[in-house]
Amino acid sequence: MSDFEEIYEYSVMISKNLFEDIRFSRQINFDHIKIGSEKICDYLYLNANILIMLHSVEDKNPYLYSHPVKVAFISYAIGKWMNLGRDELSRLVCTGIVHDIGKAKVRDSILNKPEKLTEAEMNIMKNHPLMGYRILTGLNVLDTDILLGVLSHHERQNGTGYPRNQIGDQINKFGKILAIADIYDAMTSKTPYHDKVTPFKAIEEIYQLSFGLLDPQICQVFLKNMSNFYYGSVVRLNDERVGEIVYVNQEERTKPLIHCEDEYINLTQERNLEIVEMLN
Ligand SMILES: [Fe+2]
Repeated sequence: MSDFEEIYEYSVMISKNLFEDIRFSRQINFDHIKIGSEKICDYLYLNANILIMLHSVEDKNPYLYSHPVKVAFISYAIGKWMNLGRDELSRLVCTGIVHDIGKAKVRDSILNKPEKLTEAEMNIMKNHPLMGYRILTGLNVLDTDILLGVLSHHERQNGTGYPRNQIGDQINKFGKILAIADIYDAMTSKTPYHDKVTPFKAIEEIYQLSFGLLDPQICQVFLKNMSNFYYGSVVRLNDERVGEIVYVNQEERTKPLIHCEDEYINLTQERNLEIVEMLN
């Protein structure tokens, strides 16, 4: 097991234990989660390629437990690109790990339902940020950013999010970062609702959502740095050709230049071609 897989599995264990402690009403020691977040931060601080490693990790854990960890790691990357300090990054990672704990109070038949949820079931699901906020408040977690980050990770800039329909800068900064990480991971992971898509599709979606739904400045930081990440990645195209990304145009980040054997394919000019898989 690589160092990265070790810290990843350790983080998933924290996430799973927390979920089960809440579900079975066991005693929760929040200090363990804070110490775990510090340890994760210490590791991530020294590793620039978090997102590449995250993409290639062999993950057999249930989405319910792995998703918060991936959101925590992606949020860390965004926070680092935003030049947040060490203490803030550690609290951000902690918020990622706990952001969906309200789901521990949602019954399995709703959580694992593969079909579309009914309106009543959807309302129960939509209550999870508030439920998580209340659980953490009950644990005497006094850190406002952690509490508000959990409460606001489904809020949207134009007021169409939940649970409080907050607008723009009414939304807590951690909540805004988590919202981007949450969407990116949900799209690039296999969930009970859909198969995973390539990071490029997720980047395109976040670009679209930056007009009105997600914080435009944080999206810009995310998009700029994400495209740099994929230089050198090997990808498969929808015509089965395989090649390496050699240039990413900042105006069309999801359509890079690809070196395939003895030719260069410019996806900005090949409208019928797209990346369907990342191979490393
Ligand atoms: Fe959530």
